[in-house]
Amino acid sequence: AEDGYDLWLRYRLLAPEQAKLYQDHASELIIGHATSTQSATRSELQRGLNGLLGRDISLSDTVTRDGAIIVGTPASSALIARLSLNTQSLGNESYLIRSVVVDGHAATVIAGREDIGALYGAFHFLRLLQTGRPIDHLDLHESPRVKLRVLNHWDYLNGQVERGYAGASIWDWWKLPDWRDPRYTDYARANASIGINGTVLDNVNAGATILTPVYLEKVAALADVFRPYGIRVYLSIRFSAPMEIGGLKTADPLDPQVQAWWRAKADEIYKRIPDFGGFLVKANSEGQPGPEDYKRTHADGANMLADALAPHGGVVMWRAFVYSQTNPEDRAKQAYDEFKPLDGRFHANVLIQVKNGPVDFQPREPFHPLFGAMPKTPLMMEFEITKEYLGFATHLVYLGPLFEEVLSADTMAHGKGSTVAKVIDGSLEGHTLTGMAGVANIGTDRNWSGSDFNQANWYVFGRLAWNPTLSSRVIAEEWVRMTFSNNEAFVKPVVDMMMGSREAAVDYMTPLGLLHLMGPGHHYGPAPWDASESQADWRPVYYHHADRLGIGFDRTRTGSDAVAQYAPALAAQFNDIKQTPEQYLLYFHHVPWDYRMRSGQTLWSELISHYTQGVDDIKQMRETWSQLEGYIDAERYHQVATFLAIQEKEAQWWRDACVAYFQNASGLPLPTGYAPPA
Ligand code: GCU
Repeated sequence: AEDGYDLWLRYRLLAPEQAKLYQDHASELIIGHATSTQSATRSELQRGLNGLLGRDISLSDTVTRDGAIIVGTPASSALIARLSLNTQSLGNESYLIRSVVVDGHAATVIAGREDIGALYGAFHFLRLLQTGRPIDHLDLHESPRVKLRVLNHWDYLNGQVERGYAGASIWDWWKLPDWRDPRYTDYARANASIGINGTVLDNVNAGATILTPVYLEKVAALADVFRPYGIRVYLSIRFSAPMEIGGLKTADPLDPQVQAWWRAKADEIYKRIPDFGGFLVKANSEGQPGPEDYKRTHADGANMLADALAPHGGVVMWRAFVYSQTNPEDRAKQAYDEFKPLDGRFHANVLIQVKNGPVDFQPREPFHPLFGAMPKTPLMMEFEITKEYLGFATHLVYLGPLFEEVLSADTMAHGKGSTVAKVIDGSLEGHTLTGMAGVANIGTDRNWSGSDFNQANWYVFGRLAWNPTLSSRVIAEEWVRMTFSNNEAFVKPVVDMMMGSREAAVDYMTPLGLLHLMGPGHHYGPAPWDASESQADWRPVYYHHADRLGIGFDRTRTGSDAVAQYAPALAAQFNDIKQTPEQYLLYFHHVPWDYRMRSGQTLWSELISHYTQGVDDIKQMRETWSQLEGYIDAERYHQVATFLAIQEKEAQWWRDACVAYFQNASGLPLPTGYAPPA
């Protein structure tokens, strides 16, 4: 059944004209199976080639005819050693794919310095076939630009997933460690295919139980399944664990007993899981415990954990998402205020994990001002793959353009060209410890991610973590070809639809720099009027400040002065309403309703135009999709069609609710031509 379970690794029989391209280049497979990674590589290639080409590719020890595929490392393959490919100059996860001649026969070699490089190369090779690329003159060389490419599961041990819209947690803690669900292997395959090399198993808000021996044994079983695929496990830890499960009276990071407890805990973990990755920590945020409970700093807390992990090679990923009850003036400023002064105070194995924007995974925010502002500290990107603020499972919103917009943003930290991508890949400040995290959208749904198109968000995260300068359009096209079809008549319109989908969502939810208009708590659907939350900065009204005179949050020098957190040139730009890009207008400025926009319209009319545009875009997407029936299987076609219908209904809901609310605030008439809800 076409239930989406195979993700982008479908390996269905290629169309005959396409298979012909490859018939002379896949005759036999020469590959070892001495290690578990080699075996995994071998079975993936067999599965992929057999599926795509519809015939069995024989295994061989030597090249006997044209079209051999030789896979491995100089250590695993005498043939590769003999080819002297200079694999020594490769990084340990790098690979090359080359068309060569061996003993008079045309062959393709996929080589790494380490097994994992060869596995990544094998997935790349399969991708070429899956996307219809020629493979007769290959000379490819790939290295990841970011070291830690990590999924963050916000999974509780009871199976619930925070902000999860794809079923329950895939970790079946009840049956672990004995029962290793085959799904764990498929999960590892999917991740390895896009270069993801780490996974944090439990939620940042989870308790301390995961660190107890019973659970560590379960964690170790998962680590065993993932290891052949180059994936390390990490755990979110609760800062107060020494009290909850250690019987101590304090979790003060400067207390010697607390330090000893964490050291012993780290030793215990590494005894079971020698390649354990490290800890992810949410501290002193949204009520979570942390070092500030003891008047210590984030650096004190992070360094204590880092010291416990350092002897084993582990890292601490300390989150900068701090959100306290006490700073309601402008919560967008809090992370920078708390972390910037600590630059240079973190130990070498600490990364600070920063959300892409200063508020919270909104449809659009400017990039986080910490990027470029902490030169002495490795900063990790945190993206949210699950669509907490973007329509949950059903809305078709491809996040590639959002990720790309943030990564290509210029921090100006060292003048023009100091992009966020260069902060993340370490090249701006010369860091070698680098990372990118994505909050996973994975659950027990057959299709893993709640919808077929949500799989693309997992995919694009992995590809951008591997190389943050890739184009989200190119990635979308790869994904469409692998997931649905290589038929040009299908690919082009679907890629266009995906590429426009994020802007459409911005338009029907939060255009012109608005944000957080979603219903508080669940974050689904419009509620710009809501003031029910006890805490001011949880209320939508706090973010838009709409009244008779205007709308928007004044973050200029005469407002909250959040602009000052950006490099001087940017601060000056964002401080000046005329120079602020209109997509961030209401993020930085409180603007009169009759303000003239660049289009010549008033702000009021322009705001309504955006809401209307968002709805029209979804109508257009439905129309596009309706033309594509028959290009793919009926099951997936119909689900997408139905979800688009939901999305149109809800885009309309967003538009009508927001326009009605803002009209009530502004007291202005609706522009002529505005069609009120039917
Ligand atoms: C958001 C989200 C929470 C999450 C938090 C975090 O506020 O709504 O569910 O816990 O981010 O990133 O820690």
